Order: sequence, then structure tokens, then C-alpha cells
Amino acid sequence: MLRRTTFLSVLSIAACSLALLLAFRGTRLNAQFVPGNNDVIARPAPQTPGFDRTITTNNEQLIAQGRQVFRYDTFGDEAFWGDTLKLHQAIAGSANGGVGPGVSPKTALAVGLKVDMDALPAAVVSAIKAGQVNLDDPKTTLTLLQLNSVVGVTGRFSPTGQLTSIGIQCALCHSTVDDAFAPGIGHRLDGWPNRDLNVGAIVALSPDLSSVDSLLGVDDATTRKVLASWGPGKFDASLFMDGKAFRPDGSPAATLIPPAFGLAGVNLHTFTGWGSVTYWNAFVANLEMHGQGNFTDSRLADPVQFPVAARAGFGRVRHDPDLVTPKLAALHAYQLSIPAPTPPAGSFNSAAAARGATLFAGKAQCSSCHVPPLFTEPGWNMHAATDIGIDDFQAQRSPEKKYRTTPLKGLFAHAKGGFYHDGRYATLLDVVNHYNGFLSLGLTDQEKGDLVEYLKSL
Ligand code: HEC
Ligand code: HEC
Repeated sequence: MLRRTTFLSVLSIAACSLALLLAFRGTRLNAQFVPGNNDVIARPAPQTPGFDRTITTNNEQLIAQGRQVFRYDTFGDEAFWGDTLKLHQAIAGSANGGVGPGVSPKTALAVGLKVDMDALPAAVVSAIKAGQVNLDDPKTTLTLLQLNSVVGVTGRFSPTGQLTSIGIQCALCHSTVDDAFAPGIGHRLDGWPNRDLNVGAIVALSPDLSSVDSLLGVDDATTRKVLASWGPGKFDASLFMDGKAFRPDGSPAATLIPPAFGLAGVNLHTFTGWGSVTYWNAFVANLEMHGQGNFTDSRLADPVQFPVAARAGFGRVRHDPDLVTPKLAALHAYQLSIPAPTPPAGSFNSAAAARGATLFAGKAQCSSCHVPPLFTEPGWNMHAATDIGIDDFQAQRSPEKKYRTTPLKGLFAHAKGGFYHDGRYATLLDVVNHYNGFLSLGLTDQEKGDLVEYLKSL
């Protein structure tokens, strides 16, 4: 008996050493891989042999290309924002060959547009600092566009420096800046939703909205009323599918612009689970930005649920050349590589957050849907409106007719504009109060506070 035990322990020591040896080899081969930290190996280990190396290199290339697409690719949507909406004319203003007063940098910043300070040459930075740049002159906006420094907007210029067209990018809505230079001017923060951006006000600058009027089948005044209803940080992607601009209670049907970070491992995307990340990227690039690509979704051919989309043939869009599809893989890889940002030190109470973590997994029942560390359900992450105690208006506008469990990491980065798809809860405490009532959780005020601190810590 004794001998058997000894033999077994010798065996297990041997097994342990082997495991250690393998672990050591693993560390040496993939020095950058930190399990659980992120899904991306930061740089290729030089010793990595054969196909492993191919995978690592591929990953790096996809992320680099994807970042480029996310920030700078218009997918040919100048055909819409420039040729059709003629937004460039409104931006330039009549003094610079366009129409109307033009858009000064001050106006641009006021409607939430952001400036990438890393795209500004040192001379321009010091001129701005010295107050030598006229921020009230649309001509300055043209210079900022020429420098490719307006986040998510690209101007096209003639050889003589005239603005001839304009296109938009994913970064317009899903990036902001850290305000390092001044409010609205700083280093890019990809994936952070721009909750200052007034998309409706920007589109309404267009001197010619007739194409939107005829898509929606309404008059110009109605289109402008709808655009004015959205407000900062919101957009209505479903409007151009179903034509519903207002909720039954008369409030705007627009949703918040969500973060495009922390999405790896999450199954369905958008507030109502339209599809995967890459599904939605193709959807947006073609149907919302009006890029020149190919897109297929037979669900949009349903004239009852999606009268606008069915009429416009959005269920099957074809362009030649296809300026979207070749970019989807890289865009997808980049999207999945953007982690949720970590809350700044001191932005929450750690002791309260620790107590909140226990409540989240226990008495408050949150983790039954928000499963850590994804904070959405692994698998089918959809719920009927009745599961979360809200109305089903927005859910009914999507093919699944349900709500997707929102992943909760990095909530601090998009507190502006509120929570839930339409921002109906102004604060996290409002969210907790909603669940407390709806699920009869019986949380005390201190417990609610602890739960809020925990949410702020994610
Ligand atoms: C005009 C603003 C705007 C632009 C431009 C835009 N989006 Fe979005 N995006 C939104 C809004 C609003 C939603 C929420 C839609 C919904 O849930 O109904 C969204 C949703 C998403 C989601 C889902 C996030 C989640 O939590 O599941 C992803 C991913 C995304 N967008 C990526 C992109 C990419 C990639 C591009 C460029 C091809 C892009 N978006 C362009 C406004 C925009
Ligand atoms: C039955 C599943 C379910 C349970 C239980 C649940 N949630 Fe949610 N949660 C959801 C869904 C679905 C949404 C999306 C609602 C929307 O966008 O309208 C959501 C949204 C949220 C949001 C908003 C996130 C954002 O970015 O707007 C927060 C915060 C949140 N839940 C926290 C909690 C907390 C705290 C608890 C426990 C008290 C909890 N949830 C319990 C399913 C659930």
C-alpha cells in the first residue's frame, strides 16, 4: 500500500515536471500571450514555427488593416453624403464655393464632431495655442479636413483646394477623443461612442434631403422634424428599414450610439440582436452609410415589418466594384480586438464594489443574464421585453423582436446619454431601481449603492 502511494507520487511529480516543462516551453514560444487578459497576442514570437507564425502575422495584419478601415474608409459613401446630400457644399459655405454660411470649427465642435490632434502638424497646434487660428471661419474647417483630422469625416478636394465631396467612417459615431488638447480635440479613442455627436443636426445641414424624403416617402418638413428629434449621442438605424420615427408615446424612436469595444465573445449584436458584429458592419456600411458594397438579408424583404427597406430593395444590394466586402474580415478582427477600457483609479469605491459583486451574483440575480466576465449570456443572449420589464417597441422593430443582454464592461465610458437602448434610465442607480422593483429584489439603499459601485468598476 505504502509502496503504491510512493509510486503514485513519483508518477505525479513526473507529470507535474512535464507540465511545467510544457508550460515553460509555451511561455518561451508565445511570450506575449496572457491567458484571460485579452484574445490577442501583441507581437509574434520570433521562434514560432510554421503555421503558428502565419496565424500570428495574419492577426497583426488584420488589426492594422481593420484600424485603417474603421478610421478612414468611406466605402465609397461620398456618392451619398457628397453627390446626393451635398453636405460638402453646406460645410464649405458660399464664401468657399459652397452654399449658405458654412460650418466653422466652433459649429463643428458644437454638433459633437471631434478633432484628432495627432493629425495636426506642430505648426498648426502652436498657431491654435497662440490664438492665431480663426475658429469661427469655415475656411479653417476646410483646413482641418485637408489635414484629415476630423474624426470619421473625410473631405475630397480638387487640385485647386475646393471641397468637392465628403464621406463618413465608422469612427464618426464609434470613436471620440480624450480632450487632451481642448474639449473635442485630443487623441483618438476608438470604440468609445461619441455621445456628443448630433447626427440628426449634421444630416440636416444638407441643402438637399430629397433622397431621404423619397426613401421614407414623406415631405421635407417631416424629414427635418425627425432629424431634429434625435439629439446628441443618438441615431435611428431602424428608421430607414421601417419608417417609424416616433414611439407610441410621441418620443423619438432613436437609440443611443453604443460602444464598439468589449465585443469579443458576445454572440448577437445591436440592442435588438440583428446579427453578429460582421453582419452588422456590412449592414451599416451599405444601408446606413450608403457605401458601395454588396449586402444580403432576406429578412429585409418583408414589406410588413420593413416597408421602407423592402421598397428600396435593401434585402439584396449589389455594387461593382464592391467596396465593402473585401474589408469585412479586417474590420471584424479590429472590432473584436478593442477591449473595454478600465475605469480610472478612484472613480469608484472598491470596498463597496466588492460587496456589489457579491450582490450581482447573488441576491440581485444580475449574473443570471449578465454572465461574468462577458456580462452577457454565452450563447443565445436574447430576451423578451417582459423578461426585463420594459415595453417592446424597439424589440418589435428588429427581426428577432427581442432585446440583447448588453455586455457591461466600460460603462463609465458611456454614462452620458443614459442607459438601456434609448437612454431611458439617466443613471446606474435608476437602472438598479428598475430591476429592484421589477424583480422584487428587496435591495436596501446601501445594497443599491454597492451594486452601482460594482457596475462603475467593470
Ligand atoms: C451614424 C452613426 C453610426 C455610424 C457611422 C456607425 N454606427 Fe455602428 N451603431 C450606431 C448605432 C446607433 C448603433 C445601435 C443600433 C441598434 O442597436 O439598433 C450601432 C451599433 C453598432 C454595433 C453593435 C454594438 C453592440 O453593442 O452590439 C457595432 C459593432 C457597430 N455599430 C459597428 C459599426 C461599424 C464597424 C461601423 C462602420 C462600418 C459603424 N458602426 C458605423 C451608430 C453608427
Ligand atoms: C433577464 C435578463 C437580465 C437580468 C436578470 C438583468 N439584466 Fe441587465 N440587461 C438585460 C438586457 C436584455 C438589457 C438591455 C436593455 C435595453 O437595452 O433596453 C440589459 C441592460 C442592462 C444595463 C444597461 C447597459 C447599457 O449600456 O445601457 C445595465 C447597467 C444592466 N442591465 C445591469 C443589470 C443589473 C445591475 C442587474 C441585476 C440587478 C441586471 N442587469 C439584471 C438583461 C438582464
